[in-house]
Amino acid sequence: MIKNLFKIGKDFFLLKSEESDFHRNIYFRVFRGEKRNVNMIMDPGTKQDLNNIITVSKELFGGINNLDLIFLSHQDPDLTSILPSIVAIAPKAKVIASIDTWRLVKMYGDISEKRFVAIENFKSDVLTIKATGHRVRFVSAMYCHFRGAMMLYDYENRILFSGDFLGGVDTRKGEGVFADESSWDGIKIFHEIYMPISGAVKETIDRISTLNPFPEIIAPQHGDVIKGDLVVEFMSRLYDLTVGYDLIKKVEPEKELTIVAINDFLEQLKGVSPQLGRELIDSISSAGNFTSPFVTKGDAITDFKLPSSDAIKVLWDKIELLAPPDKENEIKTLFIASLEQYNVPHKFKIEEKIEEIEDLFD
Ligand SMILES: [Fe+2]
Ligand SMILES: [Fe+2]
Repeated sequence: MIKNLFKIGKDFFLLKSEESDFHRNIYFRVFRGEKRNVNMIMDPGTKQDLNNIITVSKELFGGINNLDLIFLSHQDPDLTSILPSIVAIAPKAKVIASIDTWRLVKMYGDISEKRFVAIENFKSDVLTIKATGHRVRFVSAMYCHFRGAMMLYDYENRILFSGDFLGGVDTRKGEGVFADESSWDGIKIFHEIYMPISGAVKETIDRISTLNPFPEIIAPQHGDVIKGDLVVEFMSRLYDLTVGYDLIKKVEPEKELTIVAINDFLEQLKGVSPQLGRELIDSISSAGNFTSPFVTKGDAITDFKLPSSDAIKVLWDKIELLAPPDKENEIKTLFIASLEQYNVPHKFKIEEKIEEIEDLFD
């Protein structure tokens, strides 16, 4: 198997792109029948993914020309911009998507209307694949985050391909593709920023909850594949999460003070360690990087897109990541002092290093 290809179910594979902060998940499913197979790709990605897709298609079903179905969860370029290239070399493949998605995707040009199958035109939400007998269900993820967003449930595997829903930026460390507790931070940030309104998230979770049997695996287009107890756990946490417009409108009395406290800290940091000060500001203000929750102007923060408690946690984690070990505690102390000076509530504690305590007993 090529690097970055993972089996996550029966004849169900994930091709993971290589970015370390926010990657794409491209899924392949081979439905095996007695006379023939039906080969599907879900959210095929960008032109950067084309060579890998060609290689994987060869490995899984003898070549991209044997591709039958291209399922699109929504219209975003991170999953559709490859489409003209792929339909050109997969002459049999049909594009399955909502009409809302197709209306925009066809603007890439070079894709005949005849290649498109509208999910809304199926007689039922549950579809049986004639050649193989497999059943799949289309589940709406309306406004999560696009009005025509769709998910696809594979009954045999009990895998729900969920598009952007339940996806995340990458906060889990280490190899592999399955979520653990540390994946939650990335899921939370992604939904707070990208989902438009909490009610839409709740309704999408309600729709997933009616699936029978209930999914064992959630396979999103970004972040980690969620399985086992974490499926229900992360869905319940999302149910209570305030996102998007609701988050912006939520009056947070401490927000202004938090911004002042952070800027005060960044200013002081320049005196203590100019290099770290620079690195920290660069890491939170990289242009076009939506994985940073901060809005910056020059060397100062002007706004952030998360609740204050989450914004300061992101900064704390960055200090841990970037500070040289011998300076880490000094800088954290400085950060805590700035927060406390402006009465910004926090739960940070300085962990004394064992060696330092041992030094006391020399
Ligand atoms: Fe998207
Ligand atoms: Fe996406």
